[in-house]
Amino acid sequence: MAPIPKNGTVAVTGAAGFIGGWVVRRLLDKGFRVRACVRDANDDARVDFLKRMPGHASGRLTLHAADLDRDGCFDEIFKGCHGVAHVSHVTSYDDHEYVRRVCDHIASSVSQSGTVNRVVVTSSIAAVLSEADINELARRPVIYEDRYPDETNPKRTPERGQGYSMGKVIAERAFADAAVAHGGWDAITCCPADNVGPIQSAHQKNAGPWQHFIEMMLLGKYYQNGAYRPWMTVDVRDTADCHIGLLESTQVKNGERYIAWSTETRNVEDICASIDRILPELEHDAPAVTDNFPDRIKAREAELRAIWAGLDLRNERIRAVTGIRFRALDDSIRDCVESLMAVACVQPKRRRESGTELPRD
Ligand SMILES: NC(=O)c1ccc[n+]([C@@H]2O[C@H](COP(=O)([O-])OP(=O)(O)OC[C@H]3O[C@@H](n4cnc5c(N)ncnc54)[C@H](OP(=O)(O)O)[C@@H]3O)[C@@H](O)[C@H]2O)c1
Repeated sequence: MAPIPKNGTVAVTGAAGFIGGWVVRRLLDKGFRVRACVRDANDDARVDFLKRMPGHASGRLTLHAADLDRDGCFDEIFKGCHGVAHVSHVTSYDDHEYVRRVCDHIASSVSQSGTVNRVVVTSSIAAVLSEADINELARRPVIYEDRYPDETNPKRTPERGQGYSMGKVIAERAFADAAVAHGGWDAITCCPADNVGPIQSAHQKNAGPWQHFIEMMLLGKYYQNGAYRPWMTVDVRDTADCHIGLLESTQVKNGERYIAWSTETRNVEDICASIDRILPELEHDAPAVTDNFPDRIKAREAELRAIWAGLDLRNERIRAVTGIRFRALDDSIRDCVESLMAVACVQPKRRRESGTELPRD
């Protein structure tokens, strides 16, 4: 099937979100026309940043209300589009019948449009490496596109916290199958890792969750996460560029998935310590990490850290088909911190205020 043409029209679901907002902005920067799909086009706290984009003034960016829990909500919006970036979350990842229903009606709107050539479906790195048994990561430590979680493990259930990654795999396959059944468009999956980078609207500080964790670090409290899993990062702007690269690529095929990450990893406590190194003028009073894990997980800390450290993260496929060069994590942290302060008025805890002595020059 065909890539989207230069200056073509792209619909973006989840456009008010952290990633969706950057997909919109980068599409506009590259000259595309954009239909931003949001739940409530009048909710200014969430969509004002879209209305302030220069493309909105000219009409190159338009806003469209669509709640994907309503079948057919995209029928009219997708007509005339060349591509769709389906970035949005769904209401629940644990109800897999619901996930399938949502995919089916979105795919049906794509098919009915008569104009859409390509859909990029936002999945997650969780759909590649989230395991019910962490030892599976030691058995298959190379993290690349053909790797799926062990789907035969009986503990892989929503009740045991696997609903998100299961729902994402279901969505990837549902779109690829619908594209084959229709024959006129293709579905490519993008699996982003942990997104760090600037927020564009204050409400985005609460989502993520990675930008929210950085907010918590700035405020003086943050938590050990993911059973000592390091952050495996990508800049949110690079995730957006990966989506656009996949929409434009002449090399990708229906059903393929591409992981979007720089392959840079950092433990959560080192992320926090980085803030003072990257932005010394902030005088950030870096707190200690709070470890709320139960004792049985704490007892395995060294073993779990060793499993994560043994992973071999790959990104050659997305680099080959999009030409992307990933930003350094330090740049993403700097821009995230500055945007939290400038856009969401987050007031970091500073050494001077808390009475901690400042280092002498
Ligand atoms: N952030 C990450 O690190 C990360 C990593 C891997 C994968 N992902 C994936 O990337 C996508 C975007 O994540 P994000 O971090 O940008 O999340 P986000 O900031 O929470 O944005 C998600 C958007 O989904 C929309 N949404 C949720 N339920 C909806 C519904 N029923 N109908 C219409 N829209 C709905 C919301 O729209 P409104 O604002 O209009 O209500 C929201 O703006 C998700 O698919 C997520 O699984 C994210």
